[in-house]
Amino acid sequence: MERYCVYFAILLQILHIAQAQNQTGFISVDCGLSPRESPYALSTGLTYTSDTGLVNSGKTGRIAKQFETDYNKPTLTLRYFPEGVRNCYNLNVTSDTNYMIKATFVYGNYDGLSADPDFDLYFGPNFWTTVNSNDTIEEIIHVTKSSLLQVCLVKTGTSIPFINILELRPLRKNVYVTQSGSLQYLFRAYFSNSGRTIRYPDDVYDRKWYPVFLENSWAPITTTLNVNTSTIYEVPKGVMATAAMPLNPNATLNITWSLETPTTQFYSYMHFAEIQTLRASDTRELNVTLNGKYSYGPYTPKPFKTETVLDLNPEQCDGGVCILQLLKTSKSTLPPLLNAMEAFTVIDFPQMETNRDDVAGLKNVQDIYGLNRISWQGDPCVPKQFLWDGINCNISDTSMPPIITSLDLSSSGLNGTITPAIQNLTHLQNLDLSNNNLTGEIPEFLADIISLLVIDFSGNNFTGSVPPSLLQKKGMKLNVEGNPHLLCTAGLCVNKGEDGHKKKSILVPVVASIASLAVIVGALILFLVFRKIKASKVEGPQPSYMQTPDGRSPRSSEPAIMTNNKRFTYSEVMTMTNNFQRTLGKGGFGIVYHGFVNGTEQVAVKMLSHSSSQGYKQFKAEVELLLRVHHKNLVALVGYCDEGENLALIYEYMSNGDLKEHMSGTQNRFILNWGTRLKILVESAQGLEYLHNGCKPPMVHRDVKTTNILLNEHFQAKLADFGLSRSFPNEGETHVSTVVAGTPGYLDPEYYRTNWLTEKSDVYSFGIVLLEIITNQPVIDQSREKSHIAEWVAFMITKGDIISIMDPTLNGDYDSGSVWKAVELAICCLNPSSVRRPTMSQVVIGLNECLASENSRRGPSTDMESKSSREVSLTIATEVSPRAR
Ligand SMILES: *[C@@H]1O[C@H](CO)[C@@H](O)[C@H](O)[C@H]1NC(C)=O
Ligand SMILES: *[C@@H]1O[C@H](CO)[C@@H](O)[C@H](O)[C@H]1NC(C)=O
Ligand SMILES: *[C@@H]1O[C@H](CO)[C@@H](O)[C@H](O)[C@H]1NC(C)=O
Ligand SMILES: *[C@@H]1O[C@H](CO)[C@@H](O)[C@H](O)[C@H]1NC(C)=O
Ligand SMILES: *[C@@H]1O[C@H](CO)[C@@H](O)[C@H](O)[C@H]1NC(C)=O
Ligand SMILES: *[C@@H]1O[C@H](CO)[C@@H](O)[C@H](O)[C@H]1NC(C)=O
Ligand SMILES: *[C@@H]1O[C@H](CO)[C@@H](O)[C@H](O)[C@H]1NC(C)=O
Ligand SMILES: *[C@@H]1O[C@H](CO)[C@@H](O)[C@H](O)[C@H]1NC(C)=O
Ligand SMILES: *[C@@H]1O[C@H](CO)[C@@H](O)[C@H](O)[C@H]1NC(C)=O
Repeated sequence: MERYCVYFAILLQILHIAQAQNQTGFISVDCGLSPRESPYALSTGLTYTSDTGLVNSGKTGRIAKQFETDYNKPTLTLRYFPEGVRNCYNLNVTSDTNYMIKATFVYGNYDGLSADPDFDLYFGPNFWTTVNSNDTIEEIIHVTKSSLLQVCLVKTGTSIPFINILELRPLRKNVYVTQSGSLQYLFRAYFSNSGRTIRYPDDVYDRKWYPVFLENSWAPITTTLNVNTSTIYEVPKGVMATAAMPLNPNATLNITWSLETPTTQFYSYMHFAEIQTLRASDTRELNVTLNGKYSYGPYTPKPFKTETVLDLNPEQCDGGVCILQLLKTSKSTLPPLLNAMEAFTVIDFPQMETNRDDVAGLKNVQDIYGLNRISWQGDPCVPKQFLWDGINCNISDTSMPPIITSLDLSSSGLNGTITPAIQNLTHLQNLDLSNNNLTGEIPEFLADIISLLVIDFSGNNFTGSVPPSLLQKKGMKLNVEGNPHLLCTAGLCVNKGEDGHKKKSILVPVVASIASLAVIVGALILFLVFRKIKASKVEGPQPSYMQTPDGRSPRSSEPAIMTNNKRFTYSEVMTMTNNFQRTLGKGGFGIVYHGFVNGTEQVAVKMLSHSSSQGYKQFKAEVELLLRVHHKNLVALVGYCDEGENLALIYEYMSNGDLKEHMSGTQNRFILNWGTRLKILVESAQGLEYLHNGCKPPMVHRDVKTTNILLNEHFQAKLADFGLSRSFPNEGETHVSTVVAGTPGYLDPEYYRTNWLTEKSDVYSFGIVLLEIITNQPVIDQSREKSHIAEWVAFMITKGDIISIMDPTLNGDYDSGSVWKAVELAICCLNPSSVRRPTMSQVVIGLNECLASENSRRGPSTDMESKSSREVSLTIATEVSPRAR
């Protein structure tokens, strides 16, 4: 049974061309370094930065004078953590990327206590290792699952945790692959008596290769000839130019190491190259055994060419002691040889991180109220013993990320209003903001947090009245006692009595009586109907509906949606999605699932979330609109489901996800070239033009952005998400005045200011999309000289710095005339005055001209099609998980 396989250099040279550049994506943190000295470069060329901003706690220290001769920067300074149990570094990384992660701990008597360290290291919510040596480097190789990586130091006794260096090196995806789990460094050695440690820049991945001194029975051999090292493992030439060989030609080459336990699993990597010039009569052939059992061979190292022999499956050693032997076969005239070797144990990180949206929401709440709690570091929910103060979580289902169910910020000195960030904690059951100094009105969005059962707002300074939607929420307990300026609503709200005697009830069941509820329902229906009649005079044709106070339509009085398209039952939707098995993404107001119609046709099923009080209205708007609209550059509606509480829209499946993820390049290894980008832009512009000119009455999309431009398997672009679209009257100057909607950054400032909506607002948003595609810059980036992309581009152009606005990943591979025309077009679209912006028809014409001049440079236009299809196969090969919207 072969347990090894060999990577052949020839096959892999193709991959080598796409090799990462110097230091690309390297993160090198000199912990405890003063920001004034940051960044600095070592003689190796590596640039280190201070850890300021990556960790919120800790103090800076420096190893004692007597050690300074033994160590260099970046080891000299360190950060130590006298406060709190768990202190964490937060690192921004690229998701779904193979990283080598190294943490260095050199005690150096920094505190003058001469006490050896003893504390734990955690990787996110998972135990990594115990640090109990005064000079150690911990290394793992791990594929990131999200874009935030946390390294936490945990106090386990009296020893104060500290750290000197944190280093992250992105590796290729196809190196050091495991069946499951991550890799923890065991050793990495090359055979040489030089005493020289080889690392960056000789090793492009910055691995550290330690020389193994060869004893008497071993013969070191060295070559000055060039050794071909171009494999995906990129072993440095200096490492491959030396090797070990037993002196006695009949002897075996033994490598022995021990593991923590007999069940510890490991992977080994042996790097071979024949570096002796052999006579024709000589052969070198060897077998590999592990603890006496055959594992690989017969194998002949290739002359001056690197090959790596590695484990495809993890190995174990009886008794935890491993003896790897290389023995010459009977055919061989020469003893075995080995140039370098690495071994790693398997480390599992089974605990899932807390639901990302919950964490983001909580982080926002923390920032907005300036909460600075020492326990609020690392993962909020897990591991359980480090649960954040004031938080409670549901972590019972280990196959699911933990969710935050309770937030207690009572008596925390909060001021200002209730932040909308709270609505992002969508699994909250308990919310306690009592005994703070919160002001403003109690926001309506709380009613949308469907799981919310108990709210305690007592002892604050709220004004206005409790929103009716909150009062009508079934089964919810709301306490608003001790808010002297809060008005009573429909007699349901209990306020402090004027006579001063103590209120008996603290928790008030909000659905008090059916009678009072009915009064409110009646009043609201009247109000809504009245408003509807008034509004429709201005707004023109719109679906007619009525709403109950819970935001949903009374179904009996609802006119059925007229359709030729398919109406599906809820059970059909369940079958279609295989019980909502595969999530594609989260849309404007619901989760999108993958499914099949008729067994083969792939679809994206958007379930309308029950918590959205705007939900039914938007659902109707979207259905009505999509049923009227058919265009090759608009995502088509396949069907819908409208059964009781279950609302769903079924769209054609767009297998290549959205334009934004292709620009960010995180999911895909290839870069959309300029021609393909233009083709996508032309198609999106055509879709938009159709909405403006091809529909009667015309429609404004209202949320044009790169995440709403989806790509099918042929990379054909289609616009998605008409949830916010509304028909608007044809007459030139009229407009619809509704709530300003759209995405920050893309929002037309004139519309925002005046609340007057015209199709030119879409033109503005499209201008932003154009700039995003040209520059590949985020729309809003606070760290840029100008945070908004339009201001930044204008700023760079007035500085005369035109080249530097271009997406560097295009590598100058574009027709510059075509690019400048596109920039010009974008700037016209972004004119502050909407009347001066071009129409979408003009934009389509302009973009087609850009495309024509790019194509004339590249040759015949058929090139475009073949390019796209090549990219498709690449996409599949890299396992993109497509997202519908
Ligand atoms: C990487 O950087 C090192 C040191 O700065 C330099 O010697 C080497 O040539 C660079 N390699 C590439 C491929 O740019
Ligand atoms: C990490 O990313 C977040 C969100 O994108 C950003 O707010 C933060 O400033 C970044 N941190 C660093 C150190 O770059
Ligand atoms: C580590 O501990 C050993 C033994 O106590 C001591 O000799 C050495 O100097 C220490 N090294 C550092 C870097 O603290
Ligand atoms: C190695 O083995 C061969 C055949 O068994 C023998 O003839 C030879 O003398 C041995 N060489 C040494 C150095 O032991
Ligand atoms: C290697 O291991 C074998 C079997 O355990 C032993 O007989 C032999 O002497 C060892 N060789 C060396 C060079 O240590
Ligand atoms: C080497 O492995 C081959 C293939 O299994 C086997 O036939 C041969 O006997 C082995 N040679 C030695 C010396 O172990
Ligand atoms: C909240 O309190 C902080 C410090 O006490 C103060 O700087 C801030 O202006 C206050 N915010 C509001 C909205 O009152
Ligand atoms: C809620 O989360 C979404 C998506 O993660 C984000 O776009 C939005 O800004 C968040 N809202 C608040 C109020 O934090
Ligand atoms: C609460 O805020 C008000 C107005 O900002 C201020 O006058 C008052 O002193 C604050 N009370 C506390 C306890 O912080």
